[in-house]
Amino acid sequence: MPSLRDAVRGRILFGGDYNPEQWPEEVWGDDVRLMKEAGVNSVTLGVFSWAKIEPRPGAREFGWLDRLMDLMHGHGIGVVLATPTASPPPWMGARHPETLPRAEDGSIIWYGSRQQFCPSSPVYRRYAAALTEDLAARYAGHPALTMWHINNEYCTHCWCDETAAHFRRWLRERYGTLDALNEAWGTAFWSQRYDTWTEILPPRKAQYMKNPAQVLDFKRFTSDALLECYTAERDIVARHTPDIPVTTNFMPLWSGQDAWAWSAEEDVVSVDIYPDPRDPWGGQYNAMIADMTRSQAAGPWALMEQAAGSVNWRPVNQPKPEGLNRLWSLQSVARGADAVCYFQWRQSRQGAEKFHSGMLGHAGEHGRAFRETRRLGAELAAIGPAVSGAGVDAGVAVLHDWDAWWAGAQEGSPSALLDYAEVIRHWHRALWENGTATDFARPGADLGRYPVVVVPHLYLLDDAAIDNLVAYVRGGGRLVCGFFSGVADRDDRIRPGGMDARLRELFGIGVLHEWWPLEADEAVECDGFRGTLWSEELEAAEDAEVLATYRDGELAGLPAVLRKGRATYVSTLPEPAALRSLLGDVVREAGLGPVLAGLPEGVEAVRRGELLFLLHHRREMVTVAVPGAHEDLLTGRTVVDRIALGRYGAAVLRSTAP
Ligand code: GLA
Repeated sequence: MPSLRDAVRGRILFGGDYNPEQWPEEVWGDDVRLMKEAGVNSVTLGVFSWAKIEPRPGAREFGWLDRLMDLMHGHGIGVVLATPTASPPPWMGARHPETLPRAEDGSIIWYGSRQQFCPSSPVYRRYAAALTEDLAARYAGHPALTMWHINNEYCTHCWCDETAAHFRRWLRERYGTLDALNEAWGTAFWSQRYDTWTEILPPRKAQYMKNPAQVLDFKRFTSDALLECYTAERDIVARHTPDIPVTTNFMPLWSGQDAWAWSAEEDVVSVDIYPDPRDPWGGQYNAMIADMTRSQAAGPWALMEQAAGSVNWRPVNQPKPEGLNRLWSLQSVARGADAVCYFQWRQSRQGAEKFHSGMLGHAGEHGRAFRETRRLGAELAAIGPAVSGAGVDAGVAVLHDWDAWWAGAQEGSPSALLDYAEVIRHWHRALWENGTATDFARPGADLGRYPVVVVPHLYLLDDAAIDNLVAYVRGGGRLVCGFFSGVADRDDRIRPGGMDARLRELFGIGVLHEWWPLEADEAVECDGFRGTLWSEELEAAEDAEVLATYRDGELAGLPAVLRKGRATYVSTLPEPAALRSLLGDVVREAGLGPVLAGLPEGVEAVRRGELLFLLHHRREMVTVAVPGAHEDLLTGRTVVDRIALGRYGAAVLRSTAP
């Protein structure tokens, strides 16, 4: 099977989405000149080119793309070629309105923007397949082609009649009989029993709260329906070019796609990351998405898009300050990226994204964006041969699962403030601040190679996952589990006792009486720290050790954190410093150290292969102790025992000790 290695060939891919159809052809020459100057070795073509290639149904206009493919090849720039199926042209919606998605309330999502297709529409799928077929046939064997990029950020949801029919087929496959479906959905509640399959609908706009099991299945279905669109196109391109790797770009920590299931269908796992440059924890967010994507890829991954400067979809969009783009790019490489790419090469002058930055901004080749692009291109070229393909070893796995996310994010839960992604981020931050190398894993994965596993919050755990966790601890692993976990089974049925009995036994929880979610401005004092967001009324089993109790409020005197052997349960969300110290203790007990001890605050150290990356997330000058002699691959200089890092500074060190 082809892989990222085939596209990368010992370098780091550097480049981005290139949308030359927005520009007169005389600009293309300028583009390649500047790409060469910046060390760009890869462009992604065609992402939104459907209307250009197929201006009317069945037409094919490939001439411009032929010229571009040749132009890129002539300059030694590889092409990640996209199937342009994310944005059907207006003619499709006008002639085939049934391809347009319907919202929950039945209203039509019109053309005039992008991504307006119903994933279940046979007409959309037919046109997409035909175009993909011709595109693949035409460019199979073109020497510029390095990778296929299917569609773009699959994210469409649809509640139309075609979707309803498709949903029913999916449900029949899953449940076999209506009785089984009625049982799984708990339709005895509120008189929701289905008597025939045709009565079943996607969960459309309703009078009051919807059936949560139906909503959960619809989320599973939507991820699968989109995946069918992806695999259909993937199979076409793979038939024409079996040696060219295929990817589709994920959105980061995005609830709409089960990225574990999707990544198993990709040769290359790629993601788009847009940390907020104003967020003081933007670096941690970038690290978390990198860790997650590397885990999905089980190795090197591709940063398919990021912004050189500002985005244009936050309420206020400031650019990245000088140096931050470089820092976060090197951070992605440190954490396993073999491609550092952008949306987009040249900033648009027209259209909805004309205020979104580009590698080459409106200021042109004399602007800061391009100056920084050029510098980064040179640096990635310098470190590429040493870093490309290398692995990152982690001793801790954070468990993350879409079923649990989907099931937990429902109406009528104990707290609308519980945000799954934020909880994951809070736990990852504690590990990141401790300098602990961290992977992500799904709850059913083989966890044996991780001395420590943490579960920030998995509301739903199926039986196999629970058995897996119990076996992991029995086999010598250390497990730390956050609140409101193991509550529901695969059908979102609450487990007897409010939490699975095997897990209660594992953690030494005698009785789980009640959940006590906290208000946004509320905190609960515990021994030595404050808990936020959540608390639980627990009784410890006799064989449990209570590590911390609640100190105030209704739960005063009851266990907040308890532990039995190597299994620890944390019934609240400890403030960051407390979670950091709790996880730090467990990681130390497991014999795992930080990547580099004694780092100044704000400096991150990551080991990738034989290289040590030092990344400074703050602005003041610091000195980092790095015992021994090293070569800094970014500067070519020798570093002995210490190195000074300025604002957003970075070093990529290779030991030169004999
Ligand atoms: C996504 C899309 C791009 C572009 C960027 C803007 O990542 O894939 O086409 O819209 O967002 O940030």
